[in-house]
Amino acid sequence: MPDSVEVRARTGGAELERVVYTAEAIATRVYEMGHEIGAAYPESDPILVLGLLKGSFIFMADLVREIARPVTLDFLVASSYGAGTVTSGEVRLLYDPENTLEGKHVILVEDIVDSGTTMNRLIPMLEARGPRTLEVCALLHKHLAPELVKEPKWVGFDAPNEFLIGYGLDHSENFRNLPFIGSLRTPE
Ligand code: PRP
Repeated sequence: MPDSVEVRARTGGAELERVVYTAEAIATRVYEMGHEIGAAYPESDPILVLGLLKGSFIFMADLVREIARPVTLDFLVASSYGAGTVTSGEVRLLYDPENTLEGKHVILVEDIVDSGTTMNRLIPMLEARGPRTLEVCALLHKHLAPELVKEPKWVGFDAPNEFLIGYGLDHSENFRNLPFIGSLRTPE
């Protein structure tokens, strides 16, 4: 558990409500998830692990090193549409995966499912590309969405409804490099 001095140094003095998941707790859970994913598919089937940037970059890097079988990796960047939970197949990609999804087992890696808007917009678009299977692996799930077009098959933690930062998650692009996940006190 990081002490308060270390937390203040790492956050530049920003006030954390609390440390929600320590680096050790995250590593333990990511290890478990990686091994579950590795065992979930037939040995010779191709798997494409697709990380949604930017938030998933640290989780993705740690997760794939715990998947003890061959996989290919790619990333996508989706445009942000703001709040709302409207399900739509339309989403604009700022970076499109180089890999074709067709015929592959695709695992979309998300840092957090918050309102569910991102998932509800991305999943239909990815499904339309003809993957053999499409599953979601989310480190954090707040369970706020009244309806998700697809529930994540793998969830690291059922997360509290707090403003979470660290391990890839940001507030105004800050705090992504924290090795733990904390909740920020009264973000502006
Ligand atoms: C964050 C996060 C998820 C999404 C979840 O991304 O990484 O992708 O929001 O929120 P939702 O369930 O309410 O849609 P953001 O758009 O902030 O971009 P980032 O990944 O670059 O931080």
